[in-house]
Amino acid sequence: MAGQRVVAAVAVALGVCLLQLPAASRGQLQVGFYNTSCPNAETLVRQAVTNAFANDSGIAAGLIRLHFHDCFVRGCDASVLLTSPNNTAERDAAPNNPSLRGFQVIDAAKAAVEQSCVRTVSCADIVAFAARDSVNLTGGVSYQVPSGRRDGNVSVAQDALDNLPQPTFTAAQLVASFANKSLTAEEMVVLSGAHTVGRSFCSSFLARIWNNTTPIVDTGLSPGYAALLRALCPSNVNASTPTTTAVDPSTPATLDNNYYKLLPLNLGLFFSDNQLRVNATLSASASSFAANETLWKEKFVAAMVKMGSIEVLTGSQGEVRLNCSVVNNRSSSAAGMETSYHYYSGSTMSVDEVASS
Ligand code: HEM
Ligand SMILES: *[C@@H]1O[C@H](CO)[C@@H](O)[C@H](O)[C@H]1NC(C)=O
Ligand SMILES: *[C@@H]1O[C@H](CO)[C@@H](O)[C@H](O)[C@H]1NC(C)=O
Ligand SMILES: *[C@@H]1O[C@H](CO)[C@@H](O)[C@H](O)[C@H]1NC(C)=O
Ligand SMILES: *[C@@H]1O[C@H](CO)[C@@H](O)[C@H](O)[C@H]1NC(C)=O
Ligand SMILES: *[C@@H]1O[C@H](CO)[C@@H](O)[C@H](O)[C@H]1NC(C)=O
Ligand SMILES: *[C@@H]1O[C@H](CO)[C@@H](O)[C@H](O)[C@H]1NC(C)=O
Ligand SMILES: *[C@@H]1O[C@H](CO)[C@@H](O)[C@H](O)[C@H]1NC(C)=O
Ligand SMILES: *[C@@H]1O[C@H](CO)[C@@H](O)[C@H](O)[C@H]1NC(C)=O
Ligand SMILES: *[C@@H]1O[C@H](CO)[C@@H](O)[C@H](O)[C@H]1NC(C)=O
Ligand SMILES: *[C@@H]1O[C@H](CO)[C@@H](O)[C@H](O)[C@H]1NC(C)=O
Ligand SMILES: *[C@@H]1O[C@H](CO)[C@@H](O)[C@H](O)[C@H]1NC(C)=O
Ligand SMILES: *[C@@H]1O[C@H](CO)[C@@H](O)[C@H](O)[C@H]1NC(C)=O
Repeated sequence: MAGQRVVAAVAVALGVCLLQLPAASRGQLQVGFYNTSCPNAETLVRQAVTNAFANDSGIAAGLIRLHFHDCFVRGCDASVLLTSPNNTAERDAAPNNPSLRGFQVIDAAKAAVEQSCVRTVSCADIVAFAARDSVNLTGGVSYQVPSGRRDGNVSVAQDALDNLPQPTFTAAQLVASFANKSLTAEEMVVLSGAHTVGRSFCSSFLARIWNNTTPIVDTGLSPGYAALLRALCPSNVNASTPTTTAVDPSTPATLDNNYYKLLPLNLGLFFSDNQLRVNATLSASASSFAANETLWKEKFVAAMVKMGSIEVLTGSQGEVRLNCSVVNNRSSSAAGMETSYHYYSGSTMSVDEVASS
């Protein structure tokens, strides 16, 4: 009897632990994590993003995508920001180079934050804050960002290829890619709505309009739109051709639900976008967001927060980088050494130096 009770108690305790694990690991991120350690952190990031946005409103789209590409590859740990001397980091991979943008904005925000609070605010949190500020500046719903992420020290180009969904993916592949990051099919549809802002290089949709030098008839692409795209992107363009076009040609700088309204008109730019129209399950969600912008905006910010918690490092895991492009010099990682290091001091080593040491 007593033994049974113990077993039951252990089982209950275990069950509770198992149930609480995912919540607890996500719960380690907290809204206002820097309230006391760096109270100006979020304001300083907001200023850097606002300044960059005033110069180039397209940067908002870049920063939203930067957060996505960070989180899907080794979690939201700012690995996407790391550089490597032989160009083998995430940012050098085809899905990121040359299209990913906003790196200089993160560097400017980091410089401002380091001036206020030395080695306190992680690059991963700055990326998450900057994405939130970009959502706000383009007219999305304001939301609070749980923070306390720590920075990773590994960045490998192949990981970006393995983990980022591609514009040639089918519905099933898109759903599987998001499921691998604990995001549902609906959240995939919700987050794809980010394609209501920003631009694309020709190479991301070339296979929809040209078969070598022959025009393709893609029933998911309106003939008029396809003709425009062919005029913009001749069949001989390649990944280094600088031409870009808006992903949502109706309102390219506004975070509205027009992306979903364009899909039934065969105006989704990527093959993957069109999957949200042809697949019955996914199109049910897409239609509901086309019909109700408030509904989409609410779900979008909730999904952004969830995406921002993917495989995060917290507590004593990882580190707070001094320079977002390089991991800290190993010896500067020792506790209590913070004050003897200064930002811009070059007290850093590269990813590849770390990898080889
Ligand atoms: C569902 C799977 C997704 C695929 C296949 C995909 C693919 C792409 C591609 C190919 C581009 C254009 C890149 C280029 O310039 O050539 C792009 C742009 C963009 N994507 Fe996605 N994406 C997906 C999901 C997301 C998510 C979840 C977000 C953010 C929440 C996002 C945000 C953006 C933004 C904002 C741009 C414009 C970037 C800029 O203007 O700099 N995408 N995406
Ligand atoms: C930081 O302050 C805000 C506003 O007072 C509060 O909502 C939040 O819970 C605080 N967070 C922490 C971790 O103290
Ligand atoms: C302003 O935006 C342009 C791109 O539109 C960019 O090349 C330039 O570096 C930006 N300038 C500043 C100061 O951010
Ligand atoms: C953006 O943030 C500002 C300041 O918090 C707020 O006044 C404004 O309403 C927000 N914009 C949107 C579209 O939520
Ligand atoms: C799934 O996620 C794991 C862990 O993040 C990663 O190692 C793996 O490459 C991912 N696989 C795909 C197909 O995205
Ligand atoms: C629609 O997408 C789901 C994934 O959400 C997939 O399982 C299903 O096979 C797709 N249906 C078709 C007809 O492709
Ligand atoms: C491209 O053209 C080749 C040769 O005409 C044909 O065999 C192939 O099926 C075409 N591919 C597509 C995707 O249309
Ligand atoms: C891309 O196209 C340009 C112009 O046609 C050409 O000069 C360049 O060599 C091409 N680059 C690659 C990597 O194929
Ligand atoms: C749109 O969605 C919002 C948020 O879920 C909801 O409150 C509202 O009733 C919906 N509007 C319509 C017309 O269904
Ligand atoms: C890299 O990160 C791991 C775990 O976060 C840590 O143990 C290690 O010391 C770091 N390496 C360097 C060189 O900072
Ligand atoms: C950060 O590191 C990169 C790569 O080593 C370097 O080019 C850059 O100048 C550094 N930035 C600062 C602000 O020190
Ligand atoms: C790392 O820091 C130590 C201690 O200050 C210094 O001697 C060394 O030169 C630094 N290494 C690099 C690569 O910056
Ligand atoms: C990049 O450099 C690192 C050492 O710095 C080396 O281990 C790695 O193999 C190099 N990668 C390539 C593709 O050359």
